[in-house]
Amino acid sequence: RTDDAEVVVFCVPSYACQRRTTLENHNTILTDALSLLAENAELSDQEGRSVAFRRAAAVMKALPGAVTGVTQLRGLPCLGEHSLRVIKDILETGASAEVESTKQSERYKALKVLTGIFGVGPKTAERWIREGIHTLQQLQDSGHTLNRAQQAGLQHYDDLNQPVAKAEADAIAEVVERAVVSVSPGAQVTLTGGFRRGKPTGHDVDFLITHPEEGGEDGLMSKVVSRLESQGFLLYQKTTRNSYLESKDGPARPASNMDRFERCFSIFKLHEDEGRGTGHPGTPTGNTAAANSGSPGDSDSRSQIHGGEQRLLVSGEDGGPEETKPAGHRPWRAVRVDLVVSPISQFAFALLGWTGSKLFERELRRWAGHEKTMSLSSHALYDNKQSRYLRATSEQEIFAHLGLEFIPPSERNA
Ligand code: GTP
Ligand code: MN
Ligand code: MN
Repeated sequence: RTDDAEVVVFCVPSYACQRRTTLENHNTILTDALSLLAENAELSDQEGRSVAFRRAAAVMKALPGAVTGVTQLRGLPCLGEHSLRVIKDILETGASAEVESTKQSERYKALKVLTGIFGVGPKTAERWIREGIHTLQQLQDSGHTLNRAQQAGLQHYDDLNQPVAKAEADAIAEVVERAVVSVSPGAQVTLTGGFRRGKPTGHDVDFLITHPEEGGEDGLMSKVVSRLESQGFLLYQKTTRNSYLESKDGPARPASNMDRFERCFSIFKLHEDEGRGTGHPGTPTGNTAAANSGSPGDSDSRSQIHGGEQRLLVSGEDGGPEETKPAGHRPWRAVRVDLVVSPISQFAFALLGWTGSKLFERELRRWAGHEKTMSLSSHALYDNKQSRYLRATSEQEIFAHLGLEFIPPSERNA
């Protein structure tokens, strides 16, 4: 009993949306291992397994201190037999044989390389691997016809697999804001996704666009995209209409609203001198390098972000920026950007739905369905008992409808 008294026993509620999960993680070795198994399951089309590992990883992320022994895990939710075995192996031997062998496996490595191409999902990657394609070179040699997204993905492979820094997200935010306001002065742009949760880096940059007047958002996406395109900011874009009625994540709503929720997957051309507040509207189409080398004398000293590295460009240096750059240096990089337009009546739901994390969202919907008999989507919250939609104009109201304590974005990093 005296031994037991010294063991720190953790206590964690079972839904991730009931917990505060900051970016501070005291168990990265365990969560990295569980996340890798989750990723491998996801890439292998084993959704159930993947979610089980993700839930286990999220529980470990939420702990207030480092786990040192399995006895501390007694009573914790979401830890299945498999996850517990992995945790136990790591705590007792320093590594999990399953995790290590997965990481080394040709299949996992090939799935990572191929799904690392924008536009390639697990199913396509799987098909290629069965044909013996494991590398980008083998893919190129295979003569497979790639769709437009995949071609762009291959073309910008290195850039798109380089994490996006917060400073780059802010630079893109300025460009997007300028474009949005120029086509619709009252419209509002909000940074969502991981950056809204305070993450220092991301795989893309997510924006939610709305207009304070209901219907004012109509036609906004195509205008914004045209504007950005004419300014030479888009290397690729695909705009899709909302497929809400076909989706499984919520109740149907009146068809009249159906085409109001639009989404644009894009690849942005981010110039390294963009977003410094110089007010210039970006590069006109074509001739980007010459037009965008920037004038070096207009600010004292500034950092340039490229390829994930901060480079300092000091004004007054002889010869201007060209000579401070290594040979063959490109003055821009490709960045994935997601744009979503929502009518103001659905804005709170869209904001909550696009802020993530993915697991936090999944858990919110599970909580709504299993504990409250409600259906939550990025559009609405429907109460199945009262047979009516519950209105909300803020995230706080949605949490309140769900009977949950409000969790701010920075604590949704499950
Ligand atoms: P990184 O980009 O890797 O930093 O993480 P992230 O959390 O920003 O992930 P991501 O950009 O993939 O997604 C951001 C949020 O948008 C997450 O909460 C997703 O659940 C949500 N999301 C992504 N795709 C869709 C979609 O097709 N429909 C809806 N409703 N939500 C989506
Ligand atoms: Mn994102
Ligand atoms: Mn995204």
